[in-house]
Amino acid sequence: MSEASLPFNEKYCPSSVSVTSGEKRRQEWEKSIKNLQEFWAEKAKAIDWFKPFDKVLDDSNPPFYKWFAGGELNVSYNALDRHVKAHRKNKLAYIWEGEMGEVKTYTYYQLYREVNKLAKVFKDFGLKKGDRVAVFLPVIPELPITLLATARIGGIHAVVFSGFSAEALADRINDCGAKILVTADGSFRRGKPVAIKETADRALLTTTSVEKVIVVKRTGQPIQMKEGRDVWYDDVMTKAGANVYVEPEHMQSTDPLFILYTSGTTGKPKGVQHGTGGYLVWAYWTLKWAFNPSDEDIYWCVADIGWITGHTYNVYAPLSLGVTALLFEGTPDYPAQDRWWDIIERHGVTILYGTPTAVRMFMKFGEQWVLKHDLSSLRLLGTVGEPINPEAWRWYYRVVGKEKLPIIDTWWQTETGGFMIAPLSGIELTPLKPGSATLPLPAINADIYDEKGQSVGTGNKGLLVVKSPWPGMLQTLWKDPERFKQTYFGKWANIYCTGDYAIKDPDGYYWLLGRADEVLKVAGHRIGTVELESALVSHPAVSEAAVMGKEDSVKGEVPVAFVTLRSGFQPSDELRAELVKHIRTTIGPIATPDAIVIVNKLPKTRSGKIMRRILKAVLVGAPIGDVSTLEDDASVEDIKVTYEELRRQINKK
Ligand code: WTA
Repeated sequence: MSEASLPFNEKYCPSSVSVTSGEKRRQEWEKSIKNLQEFWAEKAKAIDWFKPFDKVLDDSNPPFYKWFAGGELNVSYNALDRHVKAHRKNKLAYIWEGEMGEVKTYTYYQLYREVNKLAKVFKDFGLKKGDRVAVFLPVIPELPITLLATARIGGIHAVVFSGFSAEALADRINDCGAKILVTADGSFRRGKPVAIKETADRALLTTTSVEKVIVVKRTGQPIQMKEGRDVWYDDVMTKAGANVYVEPEHMQSTDPLFILYTSGTTGKPKGVQHGTGGYLVWAYWTLKWAFNPSDEDIYWCVADIGWITGHTYNVYAPLSLGVTALLFEGTPDYPAQDRWWDIIERHGVTILYGTPTAVRMFMKFGEQWVLKHDLSSLRLLGTVGEPINPEAWRWYYRVVGKEKLPIIDTWWQTETGGFMIAPLSGIELTPLKPGSATLPLPAINADIYDEKGQSVGTGNKGLLVVKSPWPGMLQTLWKDPERFKQTYFGKWANIYCTGDYAIKDPDGYYWLLGRADEVLKVAGHRIGTVELESALVSHPAVSEAAVMGKEDSVKGEVPVAFVTLRSGFQPSDELRAELVKHIRTTIGPIATPDAIVIVNKLPKTRSGKIMRRILKAVLVGAPIGDVSTLEDDASVEDIKVTYEELRRQINKK
């Protein structure tokens, strides 16, 4: 998004909510900043603790902060037992809708029973506190059941998005040393079965830690079951017995709850580690502040549980609040382009938490798909994952929200555990601006810095930072504390560096401007350009590779790869297709590049560093700028010529 065109002065106070000044929110924020410890001691009461904590925040060893130190709790107890013991026992926890339109529901009690059974299965397989469980599943009810069962006995889950390749899955299993893998016989994609068990089998050829594979029957397609290793989920669950109860493990607040791998600026994905107490308190309050769900709500977060949004806002936050959440396995345009609107109407969804890419896709499909349905149950709309351009925001507001519903644009990251900057309907509605995530949440001490670490003030672009710890922040990177320190706190001591550009307007509103580093957001998925480059150079034909993001009207941005070939290889459409396939098998389909541009040379500095700036300029058609450090000016021309040629080729098709 270009900062010149941001609508700083376009304000919305939707008619469904009374107009507010934002004063209450400001007071809550000030209270939290003035006395962080007191503020969180009070908020932590919303969670059930087996043993009270001794200290809200132990900051004796920054940046390794300890939240609610000494406290003991269990997240599955907070998500299930406490509702089962109280008035929500028979309330729906989940309404699940599958790709093919099947619907299943689980009350809190039913979910509790399933989680206890699976916890017993895990125990019988010898899983102990601190052991890791890898999860490679589509969005089916067994996915949250697996997470809660793992948490119940003190295990640590590591979910791998089910669209990842065997290699990506193997890397993650090897990094965390998972003992158990939970997967399925297959998943569905646009009505067609996808062989994810086969992917898991291939991954397991290069891993040694996994002792048991639990396989959920989803598609019924034929699969190999390895004797002694693979068991059917249904079989082991039946054997566990219908009425088992597994005592929830008393976890230290600081014990890890899960690892979730995400992309960074190197080829190796980062194992973001979240803790128990701080994460849960943060998940609870962020959802409450932003969406304020009540017992009447049907809350639908469209994210796959393979990503952080699904972890926090499809599992831990809604369940700890006792909300009814809708889980959806499929895609927005299958079997028709009104799938979402149909779901909302049929289930009476009241809160829709979606994504900018989906909104832009729906804009392309046309309003008629939305208008066909009665969406009057909706009361709030949300968005996440990438900057929402003002045009898409206005469309969402007008066509879906009928100019009555607030749009809760939530800025946050895998590392932050939950929302950081967002309008809050749960304190009072923050007046909205199209394309701004508005203001930092209570306790979030955000600022925007220049490269020297000076606050840039109003109206200047800089790096978004957070100056104080918050309960939902990552604890560390799995088994790599040094990398954790370096990545997030390496630039300025004790200042969390987000890696995003932002600008603050005269009202103090934050406008997020995308990543400042080599990370792309493709349809909201986080992809490291270096991962793509490593995948490309692992192909025998490729000598060097540089991957850049190119603006895309639907996906936000898409990767474009520039590659040079090893001698003996010639550019051809077949080779380009093969390289695309190679990326799909080494990373997964989400990383598929939009184009592969084969060039003779890449522009480099005299010291041999690829000049990404030049490639970016070529891509956007901007002037090349200062090329004095290029080792050979001709290579720029080379790339321009080849790229133009390729564009002509693409346009011809
Ligand atoms: C981007 C997703 C603008 C941002 C929860 C961040 C956003 C990265 C927004 C984290 C938003 C997420 N507006 N940009 N509302 N939400 N981002 O780890 O660049 O998959 O750093 O977490 O997504 O992506 P991640």
